[in-house]
Amino acid sequence: MSGLIPRSFIDDLLTRVDIVDTIHARVSLKKKGQLYAACCPFHNEKTPSFMVNPIKQFYYCFGCGVSGTAISFMMAYEHLDFVEAVESLAANQGLSVPREKGKRAKAAAQAKQKNKSLYTLMEDVAHYYQQNLQKNSAAQAYLEQRGLSREVIDRYSLGYIPEGWDAVSKRFSQQSVQNTTQSYTQQQLLDVGLLIKNEKGRVYDRFRDRIMFPIVDRRGRTIGFGGRVMGDGSPKYLNSPETTLFHKGTELYGFYEARQHTRKLSRIVVVEGYMDVIALAQFGISYAVATLGTATTKEHVGHLFRAVSEVIFCFDGDRAGREAAWRALQNSLTVLRDGKDIRFLFLPMGEDPDSQVRKIGREAFEKSLQRDSISMTDYLIEHLSKSHNLSSREGRASFLAEAGQLLQTMPDGLICDQLKVDVARLTSIDLAAFTKRKRKQINAEPKQSFSRLNDRKVRITPIRYAITLLLHRPALAAEVSNLEEIVMFNLPGVILLAKLIETIEESPHINAAAILDRWRDTQHEASIVSLMRWQPKSDDDVMLAREIKDCLRQIRKQAYGKKLENLLQKERINGLDDLEKRDLLALLRECDHPERIEQ
Ligand code: UTP
Ligand code: MN
Repeated sequence: MSGLIPRSFIDDLLTRVDIVDTIHARVSLKKKGQLYAACCPFHNEKTPSFMVNPIKQFYYCFGCGVSGTAISFMMAYEHLDFVEAVESLAANQGLSVPREKGKRAKAAAQAKQKNKSLYTLMEDVAHYYQQNLQKNSAAQAYLEQRGLSREVIDRYSLGYIPEGWDAVSKRFSQQSVQNTTQSYTQQQLLDVGLLIKNEKGRVYDRFRDRIMFPIVDRRGRTIGFGGRVMGDGSPKYLNSPETTLFHKGTELYGFYEARQHTRKLSRIVVVEGYMDVIALAQFGISYAVATLGTATTKEHVGHLFRAVSEVIFCFDGDRAGREAAWRALQNSLTVLRDGKDIRFLFLPMGEDPDSQVRKIGREAFEKSLQRDSISMTDYLIEHLSKSHNLSSREGRASFLAEAGQLLQTMPDGLICDQLKVDVARLTSIDLAAFTKRKRKQINAEPKQSFSRLNDRKVRITPIRYAITLLLHRPALAAEVSNLEEIVMFNLPGVILLAKLIETIEESPHINAAAILDRWRDTQHEASIVSLMRWQPKSDDDVMLAREIKDCLRQIRKQAYGKKLENLLQKERINGLDDLEKRDLLALLRECDHPERIEQ
């Protein structure tokens, strides 16, 4: 069957299907206020943090962050692709899935083919690298000499790119390949970082004669590559640059493979290199991930803690390893909540996880993860005690200052309290005085928050709150007038707000799940998901209408404020032309009569 599934069918399906039934048939749900709750089927947990929202037809896990519609649930739970999931849900409703026919559908399919996504490109290239590996005996010999098994080479989809300046261009660029489904524009190949253009405008392959490690995102899509020289060349590893698909600061090598291997992971080991991840997996430790030649960021740790509650950083015992560990600690503090555990294992000098596991084997390695690792709190105190002289007053003061700064970044909780006790003891300072100082610093932060969502205090802009309201009750779009004016405001998020209103106006019966599905795989998907989680406090129509109007008033005020500020600044620096002067005067007049802006 070919042809696209019409949008209207998907909208309709997502309003007919009840996500509560769909999920309850597979995971037992319990009613909890307006929502339904269960222990998350996608990660290991003892208390339920998986919530299903019947109004928005949407699920969300506060533990691991998975979320989506009935369609995405079927995809994830039953391991289906999008079309299969739609077909299965439709069959359940006694519906057959229509396909678009005729010229328009054909043109759309062609356009899609032409614009084949960059993800497909990366997938095709990864496959090409894998085929090369099968043909190249030197590359195979290298991997064999590194001790990698066939099975693990397959599991991590390792490949090889031969010597030459244009292997990828020749194989994938439209200029050289004709009439094949696997051809792309030179620009696309440049955009994903596979080709490089030098100052003279010459275009050539980034990777040459290297073992290729595909890097996949959390959904298994290939987004970048690491390439290792075979032998002693330099640089040893070459990685894809930052692209629209690939962001080193958030991606972790091996995370997807680890989750594929074990559905419910309980802990993760963070190592430094590609080869470390793969060697550990080969020895049966299939829960290692690596950062991609960068320090561990708080986004990395945040992702890890959504999947597991225990993270062990396993670094070399040398200076570089210790520095990496301290950076990891600093960046982990902000996300270290009670119930989460971070440990550090420093390997003997000269060893990395790859060499160590080969030397001592799985059992001893895992034992050492438990026995020889140091807790994050112990490491923090130990590191600080070593870097300040606690026997002098000055040393204790600088210790206190550094500790205070670190603790300030931590969320309140028992771990933080414990650390405060230790810091106070080591510096012989009164605990009450120390904590009071910290409170004061925190309270000095400016706060501007809407506190009406879910009883929690969250900072949310009026634009984001308006989107939240519309997702909850799409009919509220009718309360919004002057859409064109809002778009001109050019505030962050305003485009999404405007598109959302347009969508609802076009399909007035749409629900939140169908809206989310329309934005699937776009840059706005994550924002919509995060806003879907919030429930307005009241479900009363009159209240909701009042709230969205209030948001629009605030958006308008914010926009006028920004415009005024820009004009005043310009006036100070460059002066204004006549038109701008008129605008400024008008704005100033409006500000004297704020009720006029707020209409
Ligand atoms: P290592 O030098 O420890 O690499 O660098 P490794 O994984 O042990 O590799 P083998 O065993 O020598 O093959 C750790 C990580 O740092 C990044 C890579 O991500 C690598 O896996 N790195 C290292 C680079 O990005 N470029 C380099 O030149 C070296
Ligand atoms: Mn190594």
